[in-house]
Formats: sequence, C-alpha cells, structure tokens
Amino acid sequence: MIIAPSLLAADFGRLAHDAARADRSGAEYLHLDIMDGHFVPNISFGPAVVAAVRPHFRRFLDVHLMCSRPEILLEPFKKAGADGLTVHVELGEAVGPLLWKIRSLGRKVGLAINPPTHIGTVRPYLSQIDLLLVMTVNPGFGGQPFIHECVPKVQQVAAWRRELGHSFRIEVDGGITDETATECARFGADTFVAGTSLFRHRNLNAAVQRMQRKALAGAESLALA
Ligand code: DX5
Ligand code: ZN
Repeated sequence: MIIAPSLLAADFGRLAHDAARADRSGAEYLHLDIMDGHFVPNISFGPAVVAAVRPHFRRFLDVHLMCSRPEILLEPFKKAGADGLTVHVELGEAVGPLLWKIRSLGRKVGLAINPPTHIGTVRPYLSQIDLLLVMTVNPGFGGQPFIHECVPKVQQVAAWRRELGHSFRIEVDGGITDETATECARFGADTFVAGTSLFRHRNLNAAVQRMQRKALAGAESLALA
C-alpha cells in the first residue's frame, strides 16, 4: 500500500518545509496536483515549484497533470524532477501519443479518469500504463467530499488488472480519509492520494502510518471476500 500526501493541501507559504515533513513521514509518494486553469477551474503550481520541492522529498514525485495541453509540459516536469507523469483520459485522441511520450522520457506512465467518465474509456490503454488514477472527486480543488459512486470503477479496473495479468497501480484521489481508503482498498486500490485528511494533522507521520494500516486492513478484507 502506498500513501501519497497531496501537496495541494500543504501550506503554500512553506512548500519545501511540508515536502520535508512528507519525506520524514515515510510516505513513498508525494502527489503534486498541476492545474492549468483550463482543464480545471483552478491554477496550482508548475515545474519551478516541483524543482523547488524536489530536494526535500527523496522518494517518488507523483505528478498529476490536470492540464489541457500536457504535451508541452512533460519535458519541463521531467527536468524539474518528476518520477511519474499522469494525464487524463478525457484528452481523447491525444492520450495514446501522450502515454508514449511519457514512456520515452523514462518516466512512470499514469492515466487518470474523472468521475463522470465511463470506465471503459481507459481499457484500451491498460497495457501501456504503470498507474491508473481513479478520481474520487471532480478535479480542481482539495477538501471535497468523496464520491462513493466511483468505487465500482476501482473494482472494475482491479478485475481487468487480474484478468489481463497487468501490474499497474490503482490510485484513488480526492476525499481520501482513513475510512474511504479502507473502502477503496477493499475493492483493489493500492495507492492513496490524501491532502486535507493528512496535512491537517500536526503529526503527519502518525497520520500516514494510520492510513497505511487502514488501507492494509481493507485489502485483507478483499482477500477474504
Ligand atoms: C483534486 C485534487 C485533490 C487532491 C487531494 O483535483 O487532485 O483530490 O489531490 O485533495 P483532498 O485529499 O484534500 O480531497
Ligand atoms: Zn491529484
């Protein structure tokens, strides 16, 4: 199970400090939500900020591009230190070339899907990705309530992963708490993006370890199902 604190919920006046806190918490991923004010109605931060936090987080920088034209951003984010680059299936025809380009840059390949989008849209790409991100809120803002209707999409991609013998990670993002992490793990999620529910704790280490334990417990109940 991988816990991925989302820097979107950190103190924007002290991003390097909060990236270092995430590093000390033992979290394996740091999730970076990139918003362009076009694909989503919000703007967050760009390659320069990722480069600034890179020295403070030693493990995997998980960059989630909520951008309409990610093709012009892939190399700048690689240069900034991104380890994984995730683009949205809602980009349609552009998705195939984008996944190929991310792979050619030697980065881990992620594909994200928004709540209203039919899960079948990701099926053609499953052999080309390292991570499938099932959004459990409509993208653009942290602190939103978890959309339970997205859980069957997790279950569906987990079934496809088993049937097709793939090993991509299944990541969930949005409204993830100890409880919703447990629920998503029960249906096959193994990577958990959490902003509000983690960064609001003074003791980030304890919050990350607790969510890890809860997710593992959820996965075990899957095994028993
Ligand atoms: C939405 C963002 C958020 C963020 C986590 O576009 O992707 O989901 O990562 O937000 P919380 O954990 O605060 O719901
Ligand atoms: Zn995200």
